Amino acid sequence: MSATTSRATLISPYGGELVDLMVPKADLADARAYASTLPSLQISPRAVCDLEMLATGAFSPLKQFMGEADFRGVVSEMRLADGTLFPIPVTLPVPADAGLSVGTDIALRDSMNDLLAIMTIEELYPWDPAVVAQHVLGTQDSKHPLVNEMSRWGRLNAAGKLRVLQLPRHYDFQDLRRTPAETREVLAERGRNNVVAFQTRNPLHRAHEELTKRATAAVDGVLLLHPVVGMTKPGDVDHFTRVRTYKALAQNHYDPDRIVLSLLPLAMRMAGPREALWHAIIRRNHGVNHFVVGRDHAGPGSDSTGKPFYGPYDAQELVRQHEDEIGVKMVPFSELVYLPDEDRYEETSKLPQGAKTANISGTQVREQYLAKGQLLPAWFTRPETAEILAEAYPPRHRQGLCIWLTGLSGSGKSTTAAVLSVLLLEAGRQVTELDGDVVRTHLSKGLG
Ligand code: ADX
Ligand code: MG
Repeated sequence: MSATTSRATLISPYGGELVDLMVPKADLADARAYASTLPSLQISPRAVCDLEMLATGAFSPLKQFMGEADFRGVVSEMRLADGTLFPIPVTLPVPADAGLSVGTDIALRDSMNDLLAIMTIEELYPWDPAVVAQHVLGTQDSKHPLVNEMSRWGRLNAAGKLRVLQLPRHYDFQDLRRTPAETREVLAERGRNNVVAFQTRNPLHRAHEELTKRATAAVDGVLLLHPVVGMTKPGDVDHFTRVRTYKALAQNHYDPDRIVLSLLPLAMRMAGPREALWHAIIRRNHGVNHFVVGRDHAGPGSDSTGKPFYGPYDAQELVRQHEDEIGVKMVPFSELVYLPDEDRYEETSKLPQGAKTANISGTQVREQYLAKGQLLPAWFTRPETAEILAEAYPPRHRQGLCIWLTGLSGSGKSTTAAVLSVLLLEAGRQVTELDGDVVRTHLSKGLG
C-alpha cells in the first residue's frame, strides 16, 4: 500500500480534489446540440491553453476565467477573493464591441472553429493592461513579450461558469500528454514519497541534466520532467524539436525508475517571480511536492534599457516565502557552470577560488554553432541533443529557399532562371523550377 500512502501525502491542500470541468459523456450529445444553437466566440491560442489547464484541474482551485473580484485580488495581492494564493491572472479578454451580454450562453471555439466549451456569461468587466503589466509583470516596457501582447487584447474580461465538451486536440506526442490526474497516477505508481518537478522551455543541456539529477538525489525521489509545450517566449526552440531532445535524454541518460517525462500545455507569461510561484502551484496539482527554481526562472531577458526585467534570484525569494502555504518545497540552484579543468559542473556560489569556467549562451548556440553547421561540444550537451538541434536548425547553406523572378513577358525570366538553375546545380544545390507557363497550363488553368 505504499503507493497509496505516497499518493495521499502528495495531494495538494490546494488541489486536494482536482477541478474537473468536463461535461459527462452521457450529456455530451445534448450539450453539443445546445451549443450549435448558441452564438460563437473564437478564442485565442493562449485562451485555448488556459481553457485546457482549467478544464483538467491544472489551475485548481480555479474553475473558470477569473471574475472581477478574483481578478482584482490576484493582480494587487496574488490572492483570489477567498484568500487562496494565485499569482497570475487567468482571464478571457474580449473586444468591447463583441456583442456579448451578461446572462447568456456562448460557445467557445478554437481557431479551427472546433467547439470546446459552453460558457455562461456572468460578468463582463473592464480591465487596464497598464495596471496588470505594472503589478503582475513589474514593468510597462513593451519589450516584455506579455506587455506587448496585452496591448492587443480586448478591453473587457468575460467570466462565468464553464462546461467543457472537448479538450483541445493534440496529435503530437500523445503518449506524453497527461492531465494532472493521470500524472498523479503515473507518479504514484513509482511508489516514492518525494517528487521534484523541473519546469523548462529550452533544450536541456548538460548543466540542466546535472541540476535535475542533483535535485532528484537531494529529495531521494522521482523527477517529473515537465516541459511547457503550450506557449513560451517568442523565438524559443519549437516544442517538437525540444520534446525530441527530452525523449532522447530521458531514455539514454536517466535512471528509468527515477524519471517521468510529461508535457504541460501551459501558456507562459514570462512573469519571472510570480510565474515561478504559479509554476509550483500547477505542479502541486500534478502531485509534486518539490520544485526546482534556478537562475532567472521564467525570465524574459532584458528591457529596452538593457537591464534584466527581474533579478536572477527574485523568483527563488518569492517561492521560498510561500513554500508552506502551497505545500511545495523549493529546490534552489544558483547558476551552474562548467569547470573545464575538472570536467564537471558546479554552482557559481560554490566555485573553488579562481576556477576557470566555461559556458555557451543561447545566442552563441545559434550563432557560433548551429548557423555555422558546427556540432555542439560534448561537455555542453549530449550528442543526441546536439544532433537533433543541428537537424532542426541547419546552417543557411543547407536551408531551402525560393527565388521569384518577375518581369514583363519576353523580358528573359525563363532564360535567367535556366542559367541560375545550372549555376546552383554547379554549387551543389538541388533545384526545382516552376515556370509561369507550366503553372498556367497545368496547375491553375483558367485563372485570369
Ligand atoms: S524557464 O523560462 O522555463 O524558467 P529554462 O527552461 O531556461 O527557462 O529554465 C528552466 C529552469 O532551469 C529554471 O528553474 C531556471 O532557473 C533553471 N536554469 C536554467 N539554466 C540554468 C543554469 N545554467 N543554472 C542554474 N539554473 C538554471
Ligand atoms: Mg517565360
